[in-house]
Amino acid sequence: MFSPSVYTSRRYRLSKRVESGLMLFIGNQDAPYNYLDNQYPFRQDSTFLYLFGLNIAGIAATIDADTGESILFMDNVSVDDIIWMGQQPDVVELASKSGVTEVRPLRELESVVMRSVSLSRPVHYVPPYRGETVLRLSSLLGKSREEILYGASVELIKAMVALREIKEPCEIEELDRHMSVSREMHLTAMRMAHEGHTEQDVRAAIESVSMKGGGMVSFPTICTVHGETLHNHRYTNDLKNGQLLLVDAGSESPEFYATDNTRTTPIGGKFSQMQRDIYQIVLDANNAVAASCEPGIFYKEVHLFACRVIAQGLMELGLMKGSVEDAVAEGAHALFMPHGIGHMLGLDVHDMESYNQNYVGFDDEVRPSEQFGLSSLRLGKRLKEGFVVTDEPGIYFIPTLIDKWKAEGICKDFINFDKLEAYRTFGGIRLEDDLLIMRRGCRVMGDRIPIEVEDVEREANYNENENYNDNNNENDITK
Ligand code: GLY
Repeated sequence: MFSPSVYTSRRYRLSKRVESGLMLFIGNQDAPYNYLDNQYPFRQDSTFLYLFGLNIAGIAATIDADTGESILFMDNVSVDDIIWMGQQPDVVELASKSGVTEVRPLRELESVVMRSVSLSRPVHYVPPYRGETVLRLSSLLGKSREEILYGASVELIKAMVALREIKEPCEIEELDRHMSVSREMHLTAMRMAHEGHTEQDVRAAIESVSMKGGGMVSFPTICTVHGETLHNHRYTNDLKNGQLLLVDAGSESPEFYATDNTRTTPIGGKFSQMQRDIYQIVLDANNAVAASCEPGIFYKEVHLFACRVIAQGLMELGLMKGSVEDAVAEGAHALFMPHGIGHMLGLDVHDMESYNQNYVGFDDEVRPSEQFGLSSLRLGKRLKEGFVVTDEPGIYFIPTLIDKWKAEGICKDFINFDKLEAYRTFGGIRLEDDLLIMRRGCRVMGDRIPIEVEDVEREANYNENENYNDNNNENDITK
């Protein structure tokens, strides 16, 4: 955990932003996998982690917006629990790590909430995303599940976003430090991009790097020779020379901050000319994003800027035609990049997504678009110093989408459909860095993972460069 003053300060600043009432925070419960005692690894709710830091199941807390007082509701473990869990710190000691001095038994939560309800004070909560939290809130507040789902406090959401979107020095240090684990995960994948391995081999190796680095993966690993499927979570293919291996993977730091990087490596260690051409366009778009990010710029503008780089590159290859400006305005590039250029990063890989993107990535100045492609952009508002965002352009050749657009004549003035036939089995390329927005410009967090064509090829040929071969490399983690 960070020092207690970090959590005290966050709660103080939060209570200044919420005018009055009781803020209610329900921590996550253990989640059974297939029966009650066989559980998924526990992960605390990110709002709770942010304000109290305690990664403990089944606890709750309140912050009084009028007085600023915080109360933690949790119980000491019983002797029966200790038999199975071992000795645990007592609740007063745990609360002191959060900077909280008042701890009450969990059973008292109901009366504290009821008192606020009976005094007609507002009770604020953030949108629940787990069924049992909805039920708990429903029971505590005497409201239906539907009322709970639609009754989250916009005032609290906006206050939480205002705090969490600006990363504090301790959060930046944590993220920067943990980027070395993400880097090692991706180097491992690049070095395994050879025939003889499967997608599952590579996934297992990189997830092991994450675990050794102290944490779970920060989202389900994408490790695929079918990079054209944006969130591919199948790992059944053998790697074959000539294919591309797209790995979009990250690790959760000891303080639960997410890294999120993507690299695409030529299997066998050498890009074909066709792959290299597309790769370079994606890399140009990635670099253009990093060059344009600074406080005050709309991330939607950055997204459109990257789209223009992609459209320009595809026009030079003859896959698109017409004016770049018009093509991007019509959304023609979205045939190749149907997702947004990035999202916020923090305690969640899509930071604060449970609060509703309209409050996180958008505001009164910029609203979400309904245009195909642009509608997947999760962050459109102006960047501020202290934001951490992903920079993740891609180019994908999705046969079903190409066929649909061709059949329906969608954006036919900007796409050379005939030329796309040669790319039907190409797959996809995505290149993703994590950026910290600085007072002027931005920087890649951690040491940048190799990304230039030659550097990626060098990593994919790592064994040969080091005169290793499969028989004498003692450090080959794949054996
Ligand atoms: N890197 C996975 C995602 O952004 O959804």
